[in-house]
Amino acid sequence: MPNQVPWCAIAIVIVIGVSNLSLPSHSLPFILLHGLGNECDKEGMTWFTELLSNHSGQEGYCVEVGNGIKDSWFTSITTQVDEVCETVKSLSALQSGYNIVGLSQGNVIARGIIQWCEDGPPVNNLISIGAPHAGTASVPYCGTLFLEDVEQDAESKVICSLADFMIKLGVYTSYVQNHLGPAGYVKIPTDLKAYYKGCKFLPRLNNELEDSRNTTYVERFTSLNQLILIMFEKDNVLLPRETAWFGFYAAGSLSTVLAYNETDLYLEDWIGLRTLDEAGKVSFLSLPRGHLQINETEMTSHIVPYLVDSSAVM
Ligand SMILES: *[C@@H]1O[C@H](CO)[C@@H](O)[C@H](O)[C@H]1NC(C)=O
Ligand SMILES: *[C@@H]1O[C@H](CO)[C@@H](O)[C@H](O)[C@H]1NC(C)=O
Ligand SMILES: *[C@@H]1O[C@H](CO)[C@@H](O)[C@H](O)[C@H]1NC(C)=O
Ligand SMILES: *[C@@H]1O[C@H](CO)[C@@H](O)[C@H](O)[C@H]1NC(C)=O
Repeated sequence: MPNQVPWCAIAIVIVIGVSNLSLPSHSLPFILLHGLGNECDKEGMTWFTELLSNHSGQEGYCVEVGNGIKDSWFTSITTQVDEVCETVKSLSALQSGYNIVGLSQGNVIARGIIQWCEDGPPVNNLISIGAPHAGTASVPYCGTLFLEDVEQDAESKVICSLADFMIKLGVYTSYVQNHLGPAGYVKIPTDLKAYYKGCKFLPRLNNELEDSRNTTYVERFTSLNQLILIMFEKDNVLLPRETAWFGFYAAGSLSTVLAYNETDLYLEDWIGLRTLDEAGKVSFLSLPRGHLQINETEMTSHIVPYLVDSSAVM
């Protein structure tokens, strides 16, 4: 085996050399999209972006939505997507393409970018960490959401009581849809009629409504090079945790969970997940901890390779 290494090395050098002339897509920057109740200025996010950048040798940008924490809560997800869409269009470093690392809520924003950010630069890989892709069955309890490295300080307590107040008004009312970010991806399996009627973001993102399915979303989603879906086996923030792999509760049930490949979204290929999977472009990974609790070793083996050289990773 060792005497094959030089040949491999030569082959890799040649591939990189050629690609630098024709396809400059092997060295791409990445953006990080943080989760609910978080912001780029927090130590954890700066550190994480820098760590990924150091390990991958690629430029990384933590992209903010509005003012950070408050806007992650109280700006509708649709508006958050629009803002990030404008940002990625304006960052000149991204114009030949880029990868996205999403944390939790950041991933549904990422998919909005992929699917409907008109004239945005192409997204190469999406590395999705603990995402509510198929929805979550309740607005997670504020205290738990602040797991994402945020201390429950006085400001957080005010945010939580405001969020709780809004949830009591009814998550699918148009006021709450327009003013509470996570309301855009809350899917209550025992209240699907209200969800289809009132929820303004997730049914569109997942092409769930038969009479308004958009084939452009499928084309754009299936243009991803690699989709990495990381689920946390002890996730107690997302209900059910399988939503990180596009699994969800069966209609009408809060106990039966359908695996991603048992859902209509996958079987009827509403957004192209099945197409991507059958092309060998989806990796389903699970980690033995709680929401977003990824350690440095796992980060190095599950995220960094997809930021380094997209063509070398399967
Ligand atoms: C990244 O690398 C720089 C330069 O070597 C170093 O100063 C910094 O501490 C590193 N950051 C992290 C998060 O490891
Ligand atoms: C589908 O989405 C694309 C991209 O946002 C949009 O341009 C187009 O108008 C949509 N088509 C329909 C039928 O809604
Ligand atoms: C779904 O995928 C899993 C692997 O992730 C596989 O073990 C299982 O057989 C599949 N189920 C169906 C119904 O295709
Ligand atoms: C990270 O988690 C893995 C299991 O996924 C474990 O084997 C490894 O020891 C952990 N590493 C550190 C540094 O905690």
